[in-house]
Amino acid sequence: MTSKEKSVFFCKSCGNESPKWFGKCPACGEWNTCVEEKRQKAEDRRQKTEGGMVPVPIREITNAEEQRILLPYGELNRVLGGGLVLGSLVLVGGEPGIGKSTLLLQTALRLTGKKVLYISGEESQTQIKMRADRIGIHNEQCLILTETDTREILRHFKEVQPDLVVIDSIQTLSSPFVDSSAGTITQIRETAAEMNKIAKTYQVPVFLIGHITKDGSIAGPKILEHIVDTVLQFEGDRHYGFRILRTIKNRFGSSSELGIFEMNADGLREVNNPSEFLLSQRDEAVSGIAVAATLEGQRPMLIETQALVSTAAYGTPQRSTTGFDTRRMNMLLAVLEKRAGFRLNMKDVFLNIAGGIRSDDPAIDLAVVAAVLSSNADIPIDSRYAFAAEVGLSGEIRAVTRIDTRIAEADKLGFEKFFLSKYNAKGLDTHRFHLEVVPIASVVDLATELFG
Ligand code: TYD
Ligand code: MG
Repeated sequence: MTSKEKSVFFCKSCGNESPKWFGKCPACGEWNTCVEEKRQKAEDRRQKTEGGMVPVPIREITNAEEQRILLPYGELNRVLGGGLVLGSLVLVGGEPGIGKSTLLLQTALRLTGKKVLYISGEESQTQIKMRADRIGIHNEQCLILTETDTREILRHFKEVQPDLVVIDSIQTLSSPFVDSSAGTITQIRETAAEMNKIAKTYQVPVFLIGHITKDGSIAGPKILEHIVDTVLQFEGDRHYGFRILRTIKNRFGSSSELGIFEMNADGLREVNNPSEFLLSQRDEAVSGIAVAATLEGQRPMLIETQALVSTAAYGTPQRSTTGFDTRRMNMLLAVLEKRAGFRLNMKDVFLNIAGGIRSDDPAIDLAVVAAVLSSNADIPIDSRYAFAAEVGLSGEIRAVTRIDTRIAEADKLGFEKFFLSKYNAKGLDTHRFHLEVVPIASVVDLATELFG
């Protein structure tokens, strides 16, 4: 063999490749993300390029409807855009311990009439069996393989001929065509590309599990985004029972869908009615809470925004948020200060979106402003009020999309008043709803409406 080993350098964050070491990535501008890896051998690479496709005129390509497998969980089908597309490669990313293995194992066990090959490089067969026992479902059609070598995986794949493959996890796979260790960027890219080839060649969907660390960096998911068809992120506070499965990218559907699960002693349970789940049971009135009628993908959801406004103990006031953009909150506070005369510049302001939900729906603005004003005045807002509107820089209340859907959800849950932009109220058929619709023009208007 004449090939000589050569080093290449990768950016851990964006996957940029460079022949030289770098301190700052020339592609994404991140510092200290450079890792060195050995370049794969030229011969090996050549061996792999066999077969291939033939060019065809576009009119000869048949326009078949994408075929989908319906998975046993509606929440999972939803984030996939209505089921799992045959031949698709789906990455399920998330922090260790969040429940990725549980989700996919229980999906594999629940899926009837389909053969599933569950390949794990993370756990032993006994460990997987123990998890299956805990979940309490048994399925003869679900085969467990503990293997990490992609050549072996392909061999078993051809033998078993499964309808669905799960790889737990991409970080444990290694391809004999690349000589760097499992989990390195070269390996992750290579093995993912090989899995993609299996998926596309045999038209079998493949789930890849990928770990992400707290800082979201570990070699993997970011780099994989380009290779895979769909990226789902499993997230949520480990201290709460519920988990959110979010679509980050989807070639076969909307990328703003959300699925909600709850982790129990016997595995994950779907939460079909998130609003009831996300609204805390409030017996007594507490100030600083307002309910926002948001839209996550196609689905309306009522979530609580909680604010705490108090006099700053130290010179510089603290501003902190969970589940909401801090800069956005600062903007809203500046609007309240400048356009409505509320003195908040010497106050600490904490904001929390309940239930570990993170949302970037601008319609939450109005609830945030209402919660801040409520906490500031220490006057509770009626728990049967809901809010949905964007707040503009001049303090004006702006219209949001699909207001009917939002109102209908609040109506269904027994809310009594719905605060929205006066522009949304125009032309709205309010007779369909039991609740009262309250059009608002500005933040001053809101304050008057709520607290007189
Ligand atoms: P796991 O699926 O192993 O996470 P990941 O694959 O993302 O690393 O989930 C691990 C956590 O879930 C662990 O803390 C135990 C908990 N769990 C339950 O609470 N109930 C269950 O039925 C199962 C299987 C796990
Ligand atoms: Mg796992």
